[in-house]
Order: sequence, then C-alpha cells, then structure tokens
Amino acid sequence: MADASSPILIFDSGVGGLTVYDALRDILPQAPVIYTADLAGLPYGEKSEAEVAARVAGLLGRMSERFAPRLVCIACNTASTIALGMVRDVLEVPIVGTVPAIKPAAAMTRTGAIGLIGTAATIRQRYVDALERDFAADKRLLRIAAPDLVACAEAKLRGQAIDTKAIAQAAADLRAQADGAAIVTLVLACTHFPLLAAELTSEFGPDVALVDGSQGIARRIAHLVDGQPMTAPDANRFVVTGPLEAAAGLEDALVQRGFAAPESF
Ligand code: DGL
Repeated sequence: MADASSPILIFDSGVGGLTVYDALRDILPQAPVIYTADLAGLPYGEKSEAEVAARVAGLLGRMSERFAPRLVCIACNTASTIALGMVRDVLEVPIVGTVPAIKPAAAMTRTGAIGLIGTAATIRQRYVDALERDFAADKRLLRIAAPDLVACAEAKLRGQAIDTKAIAQAAADLRAQADGAAIVTLVLACTHFPLLAAELTSEFGPDVALVDGSQGIARRIAHLVDGQPMTAPDANRFVVTGPLEAAAGLEDALVQRGFAAPESF
C-alpha cells in the first residue's frame, strides 16, 4: 500500500502536462502531485527517437529514485509514443502514458475525416500508425506537425503574446490536404495544444470538435490509485530541469493550480 504522502509524478517536456494535471485535480483534488517539466530538454518534438528515449528513461529513473512516486504519468505524446514500452520495462511503479486520442475521434467524426496535429516526432511514430489501423481504418486520418504551437502554449502560460500566425498556418496546412475541408474532428496529439483551445477554435472554426486525451488519462490514473491513502500537501511541487529562470513568468499559472514556487531537479 502506498504511503499517504507518496506523490503521483506527472512528467512532460514543459507545461503541456498541466492539461492532464488540471483534469486530474478536477476528479482527485486530494492527490499529492509532483509535476516535472524537462525544460532543459524542451522541445522533444524536434529530437530523434534515440535522444527522446534515452533522455526520458534516464530522467524518469532518477526522478523515481528521488521522489518515490506511487505512479508515473508521462503526460507527453512525443515521449509516450517513443518511450512508453522502454520506461515500463525499467521502472517498477505503474506508468500511464498519453497517446493520441484517435479512438474517440473516430467514434465522433461525422464526415469520416479526422485531423491530427502533433509534434514532428509524434506524427511519424509507428505507434500512431497502429492506432490508425486499429481504430480508424475506415476513416481518413490527416496528420500534420505543428511544432510552433508548443512554443505558443509555453508563451501563453507565461502571459506572453502568442504568434497566432503559427496557428493559422497549421489550420491552412491541414485544410490544404486532400479531404482537409471535411475535417470536423481534430485530435490534439500533443499535451500542450489544449492550452490553445480558444485560439485553435478561432482558426479552425466553431464546428470543429477538439479531442484530447486528458480526461481519459486522469480517469485512468484515478482508477489505478483508487482506495490508496492520500494526504494532500499544502501545495504541490513543480520541478524543472535546467536553470530555474526558464520557469519565469509561470508564477500566476502555478499559483492558480495550487503549486508552490518552482524547484530545480
Ligand atoms: N507536450 C509534448 C507532447 O505531448 C511535446 C512538446 C515538445 O515538443 O516537447 O508531445
């Protein structure tokens, strides 16, 4: 049985995993959480598979030793689609991954067309091919990489101006593909992107439903820790790799979410 103060460790390259954290707090507000952002490694989407796998497995190994979590959530599609199997092989705690929500999107689309935006690394993964084959074989899945949206989401949470041209470009690129005009369902295959829901809706139009996995992942975590004792700390911990200055500007977003001041790993 887990120690009541043993945390749920949520891991991402940056602030994207806060979308999973928010969904988890909605259903399990008493859970102690340590949020870890690999700001020194951001962005993962522009790295090779080998770099992401080595970095994520190494960091999660060290973080698990330091924080003794009851469960680890890799709240990052890029890291999960590349390294989930490897991390499960090396860590002994339960690991919950984050993979593109193609299954629910396939059940929702009225036109048969599904758009998917993610990082460059995520959209080329065989993991995504397998999800398409298993759940959307009779649909048309149109994928594009939208790496600039990661920086937009990081900026938005720091209260900085967002480059909406990057979002308009992503919408235009997806619409320009064959069948792009039929997209009514858009999979946000990067945990950063739900932070830009309002901006995405204004570019794609109000008829396009945005689908992401955060609520399903939160429910999965809650299920796995059901019945375990939990003592909520006064504030949850927000831990970053690299210099603490990289977290500057996040103060309001962190206070609103019940975090203490950022710490470095
Ligand atoms: N949040 C990460 C994801 O879900 C990606 C951001 C990055 O490129 O590091 O894919």
